[in-house]
Amino acid sequence: MTRKSADWPRIASSEITPESVWLNRRNLIKAAAAGGVATVVPELSYAAPQAPRQLNAAQGVCEGCQAKDPLTPYEDATGYNNFYEFGTDKSDPAEHAHAMTVDPWSVEVSGLVKKPGKLNLEDILGGFDLEERIYRFRCVEAWSMVVPWVGFPLADLLARFEPSEDARYVAFKTLYRRSEMRGTRSFTSTIDWPYREGLRLDEAMHPLTLMTVGLYGKTLPNQSGAPLRLVVPWKYGFKSIKSIVSVELTDRQPRTSWQELAPREYGFYSNVNPDVDHPRWSQRYERRLPSSLFKPNRIPTQKFNGYGEQVAGLYEGMDLAKYY
Ligand code: MTE
Repeated sequence: MTRKSADWPRIASSEITPESVWLNRRNLIKAAAAGGVATVVPELSYAAPQAPRQLNAAQGVCEGCQAKDPLTPYEDATGYNNFYEFGTDKSDPAEHAHAMTVDPWSVEVSGLVKKPGKLNLEDILGGFDLEERIYRFRCVEAWSMVVPWVGFPLADLLARFEPSEDARYVAFKTLYRRSEMRGTRSFTSTIDWPYREGLRLDEAMHPLTLMTVGLYGKTLPNQSGAPLRLVVPWKYGFKSIKSIVSVELTDRQPRTSWQELAPREYGFYSNVNPDVDHPRWSQRYERRLPSSLFKPNRIPTQKFNGYGEQVAGLYEGMDLAKYY
């Protein structure tokens, strides 16, 4: 894929328009106390959810990044989610992720970089030129959606911290805050928190790899991985780690949550591939959301989720059944 930056309409750095009114914890507690309902405090021990805010993003700046497929409705993309920190049902994240405080937020960039440091929420939301990218998104569980994400290339973020010559991989971690994440407190939880993912450095630097701060023109709702998540459109969805707090450059392949849990089922690469079945189900087809029992909306899965022209070169000479 080519990025002809000279031809791009260089729109000024993105702006965030804050929602004029949102409730904070203090106001809520005050209101509750005034109404004589101080006993509701356990519900109020979290910051109130912040309503999604409008984002300004440049349109169509990346050649080959705009899927032509019809968009998945907002309600499906933000109501049918995987975010195990909040439970294992598809409706749990939308129901419970509001408990996560996303402001203040900071992301630490460390390891094999010449300038280690931190990004805070303002740097993340205002410090990069945002673009809209309409990507197909394919979960390993064989459902898929098409989402207009808003974000910036991970390569832009990494460049600021200047990867060292010996950096080969990038390791990511999600926030782990038990008090706000009911799924991490569950006795049935088998993940060794925090949720971890990783990419090879050349995958991380690929122009399709998006650090994502929004969808449908607005900031990410918590269930979608606010305030910052990864989206790697040619890989199964579990590589697209949510609510990132740590980015570490390493010279060794990092351990990832799913690989640790079930190494025969979930590999490090996890490129979408209809020719390599999951040990327990076929990957030939997918259910495109919205999908129901009566209208399954079943379509064939494409190799590299249809992004082969851009990314197949990254895996030249590799046996994709071995490196699944
Ligand atoms: N990131 C974290 N921190 N926790 C998770 O449980 N689930 C992954 C990925 N990122 C997950 C995560 C999986 S399995 C998928 S399919 C996608 O998020 C789902 O993204 P979506 O809910 O926005 O569709």
